[in-house]
Amino acid sequence: MFDPELYKRFDQTVARENTECEKWDDRASFGSACALPMWVADMDFETVPEVIAALRERVQHGVFGYSMPTGRDKDALINWLKRRHAADVCAEDVLFSPGVVDSIYHALVALFAPGSKIVVQPPVYGPFFSMPKKAGMQLIENPLIDTDGVWRMDLNGLEDIFKSGADGLVLCSPHNPVGRIWTREELRELGSLCKKYGVTIVSDEIHSDFELDGQKHTCILSVPGCEGAVQLVSATKTFNLAALRHSSIVCRDADKRQKIASQLERAMADVNLFGRLATRIAYESGESWLDTLLVYLRENRDLMYEAQKATGKLRPVSMEGTYLMWVDCRALGMKNEALMDFFVQKAGIIPSGGTFFGSQGDGFVRLNLATQRARVAEAADKIFKALKTL
Ligand SMILES: Cc1ncc(COP(=O)(O)O)c(C=O)c1O
Repeated sequence: MFDPELYKRFDQTVARENTECEKWDDRASFGSACALPMWVADMDFETVPEVIAALRERVQHGVFGYSMPTGRDKDALINWLKRRHAADVCAEDVLFSPGVVDSIYHALVALFAPGSKIVVQPPVYGPFFSMPKKAGMQLIENPLIDTDGVWRMDLNGLEDIFKSGADGLVLCSPHNPVGRIWTREELRELGSLCKKYGVTIVSDEIHSDFELDGQKHTCILSVPGCEGAVQLVSATKTFNLAALRHSSIVCRDADKRQKIASQLERAMADVNLFGRLATRIAYESGESWLDTLLVYLRENRDLMYEAQKATGKLRPVSMEGTYLMWVDCRALGMKNEALMDFFVQKAGIIPSGGTFFGSQGDGFVRLNLATQRARVAEAADKIFKALKTL
């Protein structure tokens, strides 16, 4: 439920400089220590007040020996998935892992032999390329199709790839960076292809709670043909807890789940007390906070979308899920390096460079809009003025 008091808090600036914060304290590596950082995907907002209180209380205890998950941790996740996504998950289907990228790697190692063929759909979050390679597997790219700024999966291309042999597919759902929430119908078609050709889906759903408009996210395990998929979720994006390192793996297939559990044990991939506690309290108490955040992010999105369109030179995607805006800058005729230089040095903004998401991202940038409204307005203005100098 929307809470006007929480809404006001999102407008309050929280100084993040000199807090060992990657987004703000690593700006010099982009060539400007004072540009506005709109790159790495975390938010400039304080997390849920109840989470801060619970962590404070736990720190106050002062003893940080070994801890153990309790049934309440899984219940909090299961209830969250039921309330927010109408998903039916049993406690035995759930494993914990320190992060979603870790989980992609561990799921691949657990489920596929070295040399297996793993499909990804670029432009896509950088570790989708590096994790299969790290796991000693072959990467196969099935690029998304951009039709006038609406990005879709190339299901014909996918079937051709599957025909010549593929083992796994790492799905980004919702998709970072193009901001799509895949429809149930799109996922159903994907599911039937995967079933037909025996391809296992590892579905990264870290952005699934960012349903900015009416459209609902579909959990992969509810899609026909995808019953054997592995679903990766986390509270860390939703509630801005990334540094606390905690995530969950949902897998209904007992054999696959056992393999992943063994791999997590081999890798000693334990979760930590603070990540687990923060996640649990966020899932139990953070619903109004999230509902309010979604209103705020939607307004940020609309502001930046209109401003970009008004430039007549940039083509933004009006993202459905995520707080990350994918902007087509190809009309400027600049390659990634020149484009980044333009944004950082001329506009005074640090976006994520498009090629982090694969070669298909050349000529694009991704803007992180999870910041105070005044900063989003300032960024829009800076871009507008910088474009005038060209
Ligand atoms: C699609 C996607 N997956 C995973 C991550 C990172 O997850 P974690 O910090 O849990 O490894 C991100 C962060 O931006 C992301 O966008």
